Amino acid sequence: MLSPNLTLPISKCSFPPGPRSPQVIQALTWALRPHHYLRTCQRKFGDLFTLRLEIGLGAPPCVFIADPEVALRLIREPTLTLAGDLRDSNAMLFGKHSVLLADGADHLRQRRALLPAFQGSRLSAQRQAIIDGTDRAIDSWPLQQEFSILDSLHRVALEGIVGAVFGSYEAVPPTEIARQVENFIGPFSNRGASIALALALPSSVRTAISRRPLARRRRAMDAAILEEVKARRAAGNLPENSDVLSDLLIAAQDPSNGITTELICDEVRTLLLTGHGSTANSLAWTIVHLAENPASLERLTTEVRSERGGLRYAEAAVSESLRLTPPLLGVQRKLTAPIETHGYLLPAQTLVAPCAYLIHRREDRYPNPDGFDPDRFLNREPDPGAWLPFGGGPRRCLGAPFARLQLHTMLARICERTRFRALHPGYQEASRRQGLSLAPAAGGRVILTERVAR
Ligand code: HEM
Repeated sequence: MLSPNLTLPISKCSFPPGPRSPQVIQALTWALRPHHYLRTCQRKFGDLFTLRLEIGLGAPPCVFIADPEVALRLIREPTLTLAGDLRDSNAMLFGKHSVLLADGADHLRQRRALLPAFQGSRLSAQRQAIIDGTDRAIDSWPLQQEFSILDSLHRVALEGIVGAVFGSYEAVPPTEIARQVENFIGPFSNRGASIALALALPSSVRTAISRRPLARRRRAMDAAILEEVKARRAAGNLPENSDVLSDLLIAAQDPSNGITTELICDEVRTLLLTGHGSTANSLAWTIVHLAENPASLERLTTEVRSERGGLRYAEAAVSESLRLTPPLLGVQRKLTAPIETHGYLLPAQTLVAPCAYLIHRREDRYPNPDGFDPDRFLNREPDPGAWLPFGGGPRRCLGAPFARLQLHTMLARICERTRFRALHPGYQEASRRQGLSLAPAAGGRVILTERVAR
């Protein structure tokens, strides 16, 4: 299905078909109605199609891939593609040393330093803090009137990632770090900015637009991170801690790891920024799907309120929601060598986009693909070949175990302490861009009909 063709003459290269509309129309439709656009293109052109999303002369086309086998090969085979290289224009956000922008050996080394903090036993220590944060959110929701759940979910998810990255503090309280993150990322979350982010402007334009205001807010956030770094080094009790920042500071003590203070700051900032928006949006989608499907919601509520308080149905509901509405539509890579697939010869440097959203809606993998049915995942882990909300391979989302812990714990607590319903039978929400991911268009509007005291 997919063979690297290292000797391909460029004159033989060919791209899959795609819409003929002008580049600017393609880019705008992608930014404003991505779900609809992707499905229309797949119906019309098949499992591989080409979109021209970057605005500008000579901008490269991007090949979207809805064939799971081809997508997986591209995601899993690190020598076939680059990813960090594509994200240069995000350096103002994450920092040029961020794991997101690294490729090859640097990328592997950085992941090795970060991964231990996101493993099961370390994470379970966060469970009570997640429950406490969820309780504070639940207590703030109005009863018997419609409201949007998304903003308060963002706050809980942000507190959660600040807790995982910083643990306890020496100098800067977690509330101050959370405030700085909100201040930094806030302007990217409104509708206009989120659409601008999705418009694939040439990286020189993006950098020029964002440099000034971003740099000022980033300096303020970095100052807080660096103050905490300095205080922790001075306190000298790093091995007693079990948070990401302490792990990085310990790893930095060995010069052969090449972990500088600048790199620590970039990694911490990356985790704070990537580590809450998608989680909150996923949970808002899960709540919306459950409110639209009262029988599933009732089953979940009964399970978490039972004496044994199981999480099996909550886990299945989260997996199903991530299938139906993955907050990130897929991943993007740049080919390092020409490849041949589906009869097309794609040259090196081609942008390819293995598309989780389209793969998740394939009828041959998920019968009745547009229906919300947690039973698909009950008592079984999702098939990594056709369930890709966290990507896969060597760049699989670093925070996936933490995100899943947060999602399961928060959802179970919400259903344990509340009952909620959709605004009316048949109520559905479209999607809108929120930061780098997709959220329910109205922020997940529901009506709370019951709240149990803590
Ligand atoms: C439901 C929530 C989340 C979703 C759906 C999600 C999804 C993704 C996806 C699709 C990727 C791209 C993988 C690729 O390029 O192949 C990614 C990467 C990443 N995510 Fe997440 N993510 C979530 C939560 C988190 C959290 C909580 C953290 C931090 C604790 C995090 C940190 C990262 C980082 C650092 C990367 C870059 C990994 C690399 O390039 O090696 N994510 N995520």
